[in-house]
Amino acid sequence: MKNIAVFTSGGDASGMNACIRAVVRAGLQKGLKVFGIMHGYEGMINGEFIEMDSRSVGNIIHRGGTILKSSRSERFMTPEGRKLAYEEVKKHNIDGIIAIGGDGTFKGAQAFTSEHGIPFIGLPGTIDNDLYGTDCTIGYDTAINTAMECIDKVRDTATSHGRLFFVEVMGRDVGYIALGSGIAAGAEDIFIPETQTDLQAVSDKLKQSAHKESYIIVVSEGDDAGHVKEISEKFKEMHPEYDIRFLVLGHLLRGGNPTAGDRILASRLGIAAVNALIEGNHNVMLGWRHNKLAQTPLEKAVKHHIEVNRDLLEILQLLSY
Ligand code: F6P
Repeated sequence: MKNIAVFTSGGDASGMNACIRAVVRAGLQKGLKVFGIMHGYEGMINGEFIEMDSRSVGNIIHRGGTILKSSRSERFMTPEGRKLAYEEVKKHNIDGIIAIGGDGTFKGAQAFTSEHGIPFIGLPGTIDNDLYGTDCTIGYDTAINTAMECIDKVRDTATSHGRLFFVEVMGRDVGYIALGSGIAAGAEDIFIPETQTDLQAVSDKLKQSAHKESYIIVVSEGDDAGHVKEISEKFKEMHPEYDIRFLVLGHLLRGGNPTAGDRILASRLGIAAVNALIEGNHNVMLGWRHNKLAQTPLEKAVKHHIEVNRDLLEILQLLSY
């Protein structure tokens, strides 16, 4: 292992920069040459490889986004696209690659490595916290803290006006962002893709909460009841007596300075990825589980879907009356 490369792919997440920094500096310490690939898999196909030194990752640990940029590459989903990428990887004499991203990123890595034999390490970088093999993904802690701060602010105005707010957060398939931010902000209810939303039951619960000065429901974008605009309209028909508003937090949750938790997780996993490449633990996703490093074969990481923690749902229901 002499030359390694690192890239970020899929939706960006705060802490990706801290992770790039860790990979570059740990790699250099081990005597490796480290390249950054710009724009994820698209850049790999286009040959956008840049040699990195310690200064190229200076002053980034605290910054959101990714200095290597990101993309969702359609071309890499095809064998022809992956072949073009392989030619570029060979041209730059890359012996191993570290991919920071989510499910789609690892699917691409898995296909690439089985077709072309270049070792890959996957690091979980997504705000969704939806990856098997890690308790937390890089970016999740920052995202739920941002959502919590926004909901706290909404709570102020909702309380002043006695309003009901539906606040939509990201999370297409998994409701962890809604769950984490909802518990932390003391939401009255959450709607997530893992459970069926029953607006009548929500309405009954609301009627029992007449003592409350405000009412906040956090909705995951993938919920079966739809998006918050639609839900608010349906709810207004059921309850014309309530003053209802909605808010979509969307991409706001992807930006901002990473929390200490995300910076530490990113630093740990970045170093571990370099070690894994050197030690020959290839084609795995590295995560952090039960307070220690956890290794999951990429194949398994892309096949298994995580279940949302039902205990957290109970916490919310128990404390929100
Ligand atoms: O996977 C991360 C994520 O932020 C999801 O929560 C969200 O559904 C999606 O990306 C949005 O993607 P895009 O930035 O392409 O709109």
